[in-house]
Amino acid sequence: MNMSFRRISASDADSLIRFLTSEDWPFHVVSQVDRETAGQWVTEGRFESEENRSFWVVDDGAAVGLVRLMDLGDATPLFDLRLRAADRGRGVGAVAVAWLTRYLFEEFPDVRRIEGTTRQDNRAMRRVFVRCGYAKEAHYRDAWPSSGGEVHDAVGYAVLRRDWLSGEVTAPQWNDEPCE
Ligand SMILES: CC(C)(COP(=O)(O)OP(=O)(O)OC[C@H]1O[C@@H](n2cnc3c(N)ncnc32)[C@H](O)[C@@H]1OP(=O)(O)O)[C@@H](O)C(=O)NCCC(=O)NCCS
Repeated sequence: MNMSFRRISASDADSLIRFLTSEDWPFHVVSQVDRETAGQWVTEGRFESEENRSFWVVDDGAAVGLVRLMDLGDATPLFDLRLRAADRGRGVGAVAVAWLTRYLFEEFPDVRRIEGTTRQDNRAMRRVFVRCGYAKEAHYRDAWPSSGGEVHDAVGYAVLRRDWLSGEVTAPQWNDEPCE
């Protein structure tokens, strides 16, 4: 792998639409994106705006994926990551999440934590979160509708700046229910 990350610009609009519409996204709420929807997402600034930045995941000169960073004015930004089907399952996801984690903490000094949410059965994404030092913080039952009409559980992960700096992964306090 020879990976780098390139920020998207206005001239990438057509490539972005092609990327989004030419693959299936089985774990996203919209699993097949049509041209109109993709165009609307681009126009409304979902990828590049004051609050959003996006980057091509480039491997050996080819765009194999897309990182989208959201809520950049907040102390807790979120991200989305999509790899082409042909490039899934070969370790690119973990490199991308390690990269975006460092980018957010270094570029935005006020960012205290970074969050990501995925469908409970997205095993590859969940492995990537854990490998990159993210801790599971949330389990939302019946929270994630899919295009087929079923409803799935969603899981939320986050990494703290202090953990990223120390290399530890601190667990949330789960057993904190007040006693009567
Ligand atoms: C989710 C995604 C980013 C993961 O990146 P990836 O490069 O494919 O993942 P990796 O190859 O690094 O694999 C990560 C781990 O998941 C495991 N894995 C991969 N595919 C798997 C599958 N279908 N079932 C179970 N485990 C799987 C790998 O063995 C690896 O495990 P390890 O850490 O123990 O070695 C990528 O698959 C993708 O873009 N999927 C479609 C879009 C998506 O679901 N994005 C997430 C939105 S929140």
